[in-house]
Amino acid sequence: MADATSVLHVSPVIPVVTIDDPQHAVPVARALADGGIRIIELTLRTDSALTSLKLIANEVPDILVGAGTILTPVQADAAVAAGAQFLVSPGVTPALLGHMLSLDVPVLPGVATVGEVMAVLESGLEAMKFFPAGPAGGPAYLAAIGAPIPHVQFCPTGGISLATAPDYLRLPNVQCVGGSWLTPRAAVDAGDWHQITELARQAAGLGV
Ligand code: 3PG
Repeated sequence: MADATSVLHVSPVIPVVTIDDPQHAVPVARALADGGIRIIELTLRTDSALTSLKLIANEVPDILVGAGTILTPVQADAAVAAGAQFLVSPGVTPALLGHMLSLDVPVLPGVATVGEVMAVLESGLEAMKFFPAGPAGGPAYLAAIGAPIPHVQFCPTGGISLATAPDYLRLPNVQCVGGSWLTPRAAVDAGDWHQITELARQAAGLGV
C-alpha cells in the first residue's frame, strides 16, 4: 500500500530493537516512549518476535510499532497479522516488494545502490531504508544519490550512533536514522529501563 514517508517523520531516530524475552517487550517500548521516541522497528530475528510485536501493538498505543528484518512474504503476512503498523526489509526482491505492497501498511524497503533506488521508485515508493548505511558509503554516498534523485527520502540504518547521526540528519534527503544503540542487549536483558529512556531522550533531542 502506502509509502512510508509519514513513518520517517515520527521521530528523528527509529530504534531497531531485538527482544529475546517477550516479557521485556512492553517495558522496552514504554522506556523508549518515556524518552520521547514514538516509533520502534522490532526485528524478526528471534523466535518470539511476533509475540513481542503483538504485545507492544496492544499495550503501548503511543508507540508506532513496525516489523523489521522482513525477508519473505510469509514473514510480512505474519507481521501484519501480529499488529505491525509498518514493514521494513533490509533489501528488496521483486517478489517481496510486490507482496509487501499488497498489504495494508506502509512499507520501507531497504536499498544500498542507485539501481535499487530506481527499482523501488518504479513501484511508486519514495521513502526507503538505506542499509547498511555506514559500510555502503555513509553520508557522502547519500548526498551523491540526492543529486540525480532528490525526491527520495531515506532512513539510513547500520553502523550509526548518537555521535554520527547528525552527519546524516543534516542531509536534505534524510528525515530520520535507524539504529540499535538505543536498546543495548545488556540493558534489555538486565531490565535497565532507565538507561533505555536516557538513550531515547538523547536520540529524541537530535530532532530539536
Ligand atoms: C538493522 O537491521 O537495521 C541493523 O541491524 C541496525 O544496525 P546497527 O545495529 O548498526 O544500528
